[in-house]
Formats: sequence, structure tokens, C-alpha cells
Amino acid sequence: MEIIRDNIEKSEFLVHRSVFADKEILARERAEIFNKCWLFIGHETEVPEKGDYRRKKVGGRNLLLVHGQDDVIRALYNTCPHRGALVCRENEGNARAFRCFYHAWSFKNDGELVGMPGKDGFPKDFNADGTKNMKAVNRFESYRGFMFVNFDEDAISLDEYLGNAKEYIDLVADQSESGLETLGGIQEYSVRANWKLIAENSVDLYHGMPTHKTYFDIKQSQDADLKRVKLEGKGVQLDNGHGVMEYVAPWGRPIAQWTPIWDDNLKKDMEEIKEGLVERFGEERADRIANYNRNILIFPNLVINDIMAITARTFYPTSPGYMEVQGYSFAPKGEPDAHRKARNTNFLEFLGPGGFATPDDNEALELCQEAYNNNTEVQWNDISKGMSREGGALATDELQMRSFWRQYNAVLQESYNKEVALK
Ligand code: FES
Ligand SMILES: [Fe+2]
Repeated sequence: MEIIRDNIEKSEFLVHRSVFADKEILARERAEIFNKCWLFIGHETEVPEKGDYRRKKVGGRNLLLVHGQDDVIRALYNTCPHRGALVCRENEGNARAFRCFYHAWSFKNDGELVGMPGKDGFPKDFNADGTKNMKAVNRFESYRGFMFVNFDEDAISLDEYLGNAKEYIDLVADQSESGLETLGGIQEYSVRANWKLIAENSVDLYHGMPTHKTYFDIKQSQDADLKRVKLEGKGVQLDNGHGVMEYVAPWGRPIAQWTPIWDDNLKKDMEEIKEGLVERFGEERADRIANYNRNILIFPNLVINDIMAITARTFYPTSPGYMEVQGYSFAPKGEPDAHRKARNTNFLEFLGPGGFATPDDNEALELCQEAYNNNTEVQWNDISKGMSREGGALATDELQMRSFWRQYNAVLQESYNKEVALK
């Protein structure tokens, strides 16, 4: 199966459109990608206290992220070891124990079975091997508060998997000495498009100006000094299919780039934050943290946007042409109200469900999917931008997307090759 054509000599990179519409390919993605890669489950600040829990859907599984009385955070499979019912039906809360709706088996918040009606029907050592406890996902690791699960027991460590993408996560996490926290609530929406389209779109600065023109026109009208909107920086191919673009942009960043639509007081605050960063990290790194934006794609389905607000996004296919998306928003712990307000305005204006970005992006993705579903005579997508450029890719090039596709292709080809070897 020819998935990509990666022609360095000709500076041409093509992706076969069947990968967006084919059911057999989706089944293979589930087996080879979603069952084997590290998948984002949430941020540790979502369950800060003992007993805190949140229901999560990750890689198609119903999970329960729970902070146990023993102070350990776990991802439990949210299914009753008795006959399978979903044990926890609330989206979030705080509980010492969970009781199954069906036959009322109950479990401590570390998953251990502690009660069952009609005990006399079972032997005393019924749960001696622990198989009647709620099962935990064994591979559960975190980096700087970002927590991941892996359904493959033999997977490499999260640390190794993230590789040099950690440098960019650090730039986000280092923004605040007190650490980042998630803001209440998760945005959930679905898009009639293949999941890989949002992976591409999230590290695609090329589409910024045309797709989000209205937003940039508004930015220009708000800032008399802004003669020309510039989005300048670099695109980087990272380890294991990850990618990033890092660039300057005209919008305000609550860490620590002031914009004229904000209150004048905030200008001083932003300068102070910047000074603090210079003290902690030196001029160059402080400038990167404060004034550079970064959109990080962690293969296969996590995007961390550190732009006019800090967000994360994860997505999963329910069919080749349909995905469910979850959006998170982050901010420094204990941020002053005025900063939080500026951050939230920024977020809503561009990234929120009624903002200038998300609805337009989703429209673009659905327009593409329409062709993959129906115009099957046209077979290849072009992702070549920047391949012929000397001296490294720009942020508006497509190298960071090629990183994703190269890994994607490697994983799927390996699985095809194994099959051939078995025949
Ligand atoms: S299915 Fe949960 S107690 Fe029976
Ligand atoms: Fe966009």
C-alpha cells in the first residue's frame, strides 16, 4: 500500500487520499497507532485532591482518571469486573468509593473491590488474585503535569517517546513558577472529517492568513502600529512523528506580550513578568517563552497550542470521516484576575467555539473530507511546501506535517510488511 510519496530530489511530498476514507485503514490505525502510542489522558491539576475523579474517553476506551486515597493518580478502566457495566456514570466529582449500578459491587477509589451483595454465594478467597478489582491501565506516565496512557505493555517510556518534543513542552510549562493548571470544563465537539486532518491543521500556519483573515483584519484595526501582520518563525520535525512551529505573531500573550486592546496597566504587568523570566532563564530563553508562539503536535493525537492562550486538544476517530474532539485550556496557577480575563478573551476570540478559528478550521476540514469521500479519482494531497527551501523550514512551511506523515507511514508500512512476511 503506497501511503506517501516522499521525493526529496523533486521536493515533492504526497499523501494518498484513501487514508482519510478507508475503513480497513482506520482498523489498522486503531491496532498499530492508538493501541501502541502514548495518548494524552489529562492534566494532573484536573484531579488535585484525594478522591477527585474525571471520566475520560481515550483511544476509544472508557476510563476513569482518579486520585486515590493513597495519593496515587490512576487511570482505571471504567468497566465493572463483574459483568461489564460502566461503573462511574458521573463526569467528574470526588468520591472515596464507586458503586456499580447493576448488581452493586463497590470499589475503593484505587479500584479495589470492597463490597458485594450476596457474599455467601462466593468463596472467601474469591478475589485473592485481584482480578475482581477495577483494572488499571498499567502504562500510565506523565511529563510536567501532562498525563498519558499506553495500552501496549511493551511500549517505550513516555520520556523516550516524547524525545526532543520535551524541549517545547518545557517552554510552555516554564511560563509560570507555580505551574500550569487546567481551567474548568472541557470543550467537546465533533467534526465530519478524518482525525488526521486536525493533526495537520493544528501545525499548519500556511492556512492562517486566508482561513482566518477576518481575525487578522480585526487585529490590524485594533493596533495602529501594526502595519503588516507577520507570522515569522520556523517549522521543526521532531522525534517519533512529533512536530512544532514556533513563530512571532501580532496577538497579545498573557505571558508576556502586551497588545493595545488590553488595559494600560497590563503593559506594566507584562513587562514585570518578562523581567522575572529573564531572571530565571536569561534573555534568549525568556524571549522565546514570552514572545514566541508554539503549536506542538505530539503524535498521534495531542496538540498543545501556546499561542494567544494555552490550550490542548485531543481527538479520536469514530469512523474514517468523523472525529470527536476534546479541548482543554490552561493558565498559570494563581494568575491575577485581570490577566486571566485577558487570557480568556483571547481564547474566546480565536480558539473558542464561537471564535474566529475553530469554526473556520472545521469548515475547511469538512470541505476536504467531502472530496476524500466522493471525488476519489483525484488521489494525492500535496504537502511539499518548504521542501526546496535552503536553510531550514519556515513556520509557514509544511515540514512539521511531513514529520507526522513520515511516522504514520513508517508505522503502517511496518504492519503491512509483517503481514506479507507471515504469508
Ligand atoms: S455488572 Fe457491576 S455489579 Fe454486576
Ligand atoms: Fe486555523
